[in-house]
Amino acid sequence: MDHFLYRSGTLHAEDVALADIARTVGTPFYCYSTATLTRHYQLFTEALSPMPHLVCFAIKSLSNVAVLKTLGNLGAGMDVVSGGEYLRAKAAGVPGERIVFSGVGKTRDEMRLVLEGGIRQFNVESEPEMRAISEVASAMGVVAPITIRVNPDVDARTHEKIATGKKENKFGIPIARASEVYAEAARLPGIEVVGIDVHIGSQLTELEPFEQAYLKVADLTRRLRSEGHDIRRLDLGGGLGIPYQRSNEAPPLPVEYGALIKRTVGDLGCEIEIEPGRLISGNSGVLVSGVIYVKNGEGRDFLILDAAMNDLVRPSMYGAWHDIVPVEEPAPAAEKQEYDVVGPVCETGDTFAKARPLPKLAEGDLVAFRSAGAYGAVMASEYNTRPLVPEVLVNGDHYAVIRARPTFDEILARDTIPEWL
Ligand code: LLP
Repeated sequence: MDHFLYRSGTLHAEDVALADIARTVGTPFYCYSTATLTRHYQLFTEALSPMPHLVCFAIKSLSNVAVLKTLGNLGAGMDVVSGGEYLRAKAAGVPGERIVFSGVGKTRDEMRLVLEGGIRQFNVESEPEMRAISEVASAMGVVAPITIRVNPDVDARTHEKIATGKKENKFGIPIARASEVYAEAARLPGIEVVGIDVHIGSQLTELEPFEQAYLKVADLTRRLRSEGHDIRRLDLGGGLGIPYQRSNEAPPLPVEYGALIKRTVGDLGCEIEIEPGRLISGNSGVLVSGVIYVKNGEGRDFLILDAAMNDLVRPSMYGAWHDIVPVEEPAPAAEKQEYDVVGPVCETGDTFAKARPLPKLAEGDLVAFRSAGAYGAVMASEYNTRPLVPEVLVNGDHYAVIRARPTFDEILARDTIPEWL
């Protein structure tokens, strides 16, 4: 559930009317709900209790520092994939011992940065990377805690662009070679093996692929222990999906996911880490946009919004569905009509939905894209020199702009003209 509901005929984020925010901030804007972020984080901590665990929010899904502070204050850990994300987590006050560092291409500069600032563990993705961490940490005179990400060759049965657990994907080391790689890790200076890491993909709508992967990790834990490694931590990745099309999707719940973790790896006495992004942030955010024009085309009507693919790229990039709802509540019997919902960007790919049945809308009306909190604002760009979309955080009956819309002067000031021009 989330906290975006109609009240007195208009869509609210908690106790704040989205139309009121639109009046002061302008459209488009992202709006997040503190209560929903909190609730979703707690669903995971409840699902994993009483096992020792840390829920590391995958901040790639929504990385605004105010959101990270909201979750960090609740005790959340953070999963980061770049030096920049690490600095965001630190800026939110999250201590290094609650930050895990994932990603296939960590640079030596990034390694130094996180070793100086403190890190819970590196999730190592390859042997060359492991050797680089060993070199960097040894030169700094420190020991870097590591897990090694194994690729279990499991089909996550999700969109091909976000499946990561098959052997042809670039992620992790083949699970069949784990003994060899862990043996090398044990010999290298400057690193200490603390566990195993796995992540098979994103927006998984079934538990079965997780089950296959976690059973393989359980077997591997026993094998590596018998080979003398101190496997005390399992990072099981993120990936639990959310219902984007609320009328007909019901992915597994965090409590069912927690029960699966207990069933598959619960008897190993390991500390469990998970890295959920989307399930915490996705339904905690909406993108609010205004209708610029309704254009009657050949055999179809276009709803031309002031949000575009640069603000929310998921529909054009993955063919993703987002529920679109009018901000003013339609009458229960209101007639629907089909619209192609598009943005102003100059390419046909700038289409949010085709033939989407919606109540009749007119110029100036507001709509909200639901489930836009994850991989929305973080993937936005300034394509077509459209200012980066602002972000707003609601908490009960108040709200704050947590990233302002840049002015055109600020945008233009980032370009510099060489002296020869
Ligand atoms: N851990 C690792 C190592 C990951 O690569 C990811 C996501 C997560 C955790 C979090 O997964 P989640 O719980 O959010 O599913 N831009 C795409 C999604 C890319 C996911 C990348 N990795 C989208 O808009 O659907």
